[in-house]
Amino acid sequence: MKVAVIGLGKLGIPMAAFYAEKGHDVIGSDIMPDLVDSLKKGTYKTCEPGVEETLQAFSGIKFTTSIKEAVEFAKLIFVVVPTPSEEAGDFSDQFLVEALYDIGEGIKCSKEYKIVVVVSTIMPGTMEQVVIPTLEEVTEKSCYKHFGVCYNPEFIALGSVMYDMDNPDVVLIGSNKQEDAIILQNFHISNISGLNACIHTMSFINSEIAKLALNCAIVAKISVANTIASVCEAIEGGDATVVTEFIGDDSRIGHAYFKPGLGYSGPCFPRDPRAFIELASEVESVFAMQEACEIVNNDVVTRIVYRVMDLVPKKSIVSILGTAYKTDSGVIEESCILQVANILVNAGYKVHTYDPIAICNSSSIEECLQDSELCIVATEARKFKDLNFDTLSVPRILDCWGIYREHKDFIKSKGIEYCQVGVALD
Ligand SMILES: NC(=O)c1ccc[n+]([C@@H]2O[C@H](COP(=O)([O-])OP(=O)(O)OC[C@H]3O[C@@H](n4cnc5c(N)ncnc54)[C@H](O)[C@@H]3O)[C@@H](O)[C@H]2O)c1
Repeated sequence: MKVAVIGLGKLGIPMAAFYAEKGHDVIGSDIMPDLVDSLKKGTYKTCEPGVEETLQAFSGIKFTTSIKEAVEFAKLIFVVVPTPSEEAGDFSDQFLVEALYDIGEGIKCSKEYKIVVVVSTIMPGTMEQVVIPTLEEVTEKSCYKHFGVCYNPEFIALGSVMYDMDNPDVVLIGSNKQEDAIILQNFHISNISGLNACIHTMSFINSEIAKLALNCAIVAKISVANTIASVCEAIEGGDATVVTEFIGDDSRIGHAYFKPGLGYSGPCFPRDPRAFIELASEVESVFAMQEACEIVNNDVVTRIVYRVMDLVPKKSIVSILGTAYKTDSGVIEESCILQVANILVNAGYKVHTYDPIAICNSSSIEECLQDSELCIVATEARKFKDLNFDTLSVPRILDCWGIYREHKDFIKSKGIEYCQVGVALD
C-alpha cells in the first residue's frame, strides 16, 4: 500500500518507520524543513526504540515538506499533527485544519480515491463538523464519493511505539462508510504480528468518544491504586503492593496499570480525561470521576513531598533518579516527579536529578547521588534496578515503584533507610 504520514513528530516518525518495515511504500511529510532534511540525510536522532535502525534499514522511505506531493503519492494518508490542549481542556484543531487545507489541495489534483485517516486526538464531533467540511470545501469534491475519511487513533506508549503498533490490544476505526473502514481494517490486519488485537469499527462519533473514554478508564484504574497507596501509607503495617497484587489477580480488574506509585502523566493521560471533563460539561453531563482522578493524582505529588519533608530537613540535597514521565522515555510532559522536584526546590531543598534519556542536571548516577540525604527512585529504568548497594553512598531511598522491595532487607543491612511509596513507614 502507498502510505503518507503527515506530521513527523513523536508518533508520526515511528508510524512511518513501522509501515515501511511492514513492506509499504511510505512517504513522510512535515512543515519543519530542518526535520525533513535530517530524515532525508539519515541524521535524525530519537530515543524511541527501533526507529533509527528501521529508518536506516528502509532508506526507501521518502520525506518531503510538500504535503501535496505526499498526498498525490499515497492511497492512505495518515494525519498525525498536534492538537494541543486549550485552557478549558478541549483540543485545538488549528494545526489539523491547516494540514487538511494542504491535504485537500493534493486530493483536488488527483483522480484516485484516497482515504484521509485522522490519527491526531480530536474532540468528539470533529470528523463530521470540521474534517469532512474542510476537505470538501478545499477539494470541491464529495466525501465518500471522491475521497474517504476515517478516524484511527493509536493506543501506544512512548518508548515502545513500534512494538505497540505491532502488538495492539485494540484497533479503533471510526468510519461512516463501510468500504473505507474495510480497506483500513485489512491494512492493519496485514501489519499486526500480535494475535490478541480486537479491531472495532464504529461511527465517527462513537470512535471519537471511545478514544478519550479509554484513557479515562485507564487513569481511573491508576487512581484507585494510588488511593489504596494513600490509605496504606497512613495505616501502620499498610502495604499497597500486597493489596493491589491481590486485587489485580481478579480478572475483572487485572494487573496492568494497577500499581501503587507515581501519578499518571505524559502527553495523553492527563489531557484526554481533561478533554472528557470539558465534553461532559458542554453536554451538561456529570463526569465527577475524572475530576476525582485529578484530585488523587495531585495528591500523589503532595504525599511524596510530605514524605520527603518527614525524612529529611529543608536545605538537604535530595537526588531524583528518573525525571521522564515513564521509564525509557525522554518525555517530561506533566512528569509527576518533576512537579515534586519543583515544590521541593521552592521549599528550600537542593535537588539533583539524573535520567538516562530525559532532561536532568547531573551527568551520572554517581554525580546525582553526591552528598544526597535522600534518593527518590522515580522510574523503573534498568540502570536504576541494577544499582550496586554495596558501593552506593546514600543514607535513604524512597522507592516509588517498589523496584527494590525484594531486596529491602539487604538494603537495610547496608545501613540505608528504605521506604516505598504506598507502604507505611516503619
Ligand atoms: N505522542 C503520543 O504518545 C501520542 C499518542 C496518541 C496520540 N497522539 C496524538 O497524535 C498527535 C500528534 O502527537 P505527537 O506527539 O506526535 O506530536 P508532535 O508535536 O511530537 O509532532 C507533530 C508534528 O506535526 C508537525 N506539523 C504541525 N503542523 C503540521 C502541518 N500542518 N502539516 C504537517 N505537519 C505538521 C509538527 O511540525 C511536528 O513535527 C496529537 O494529536 C496527539 O494527541 C500522540
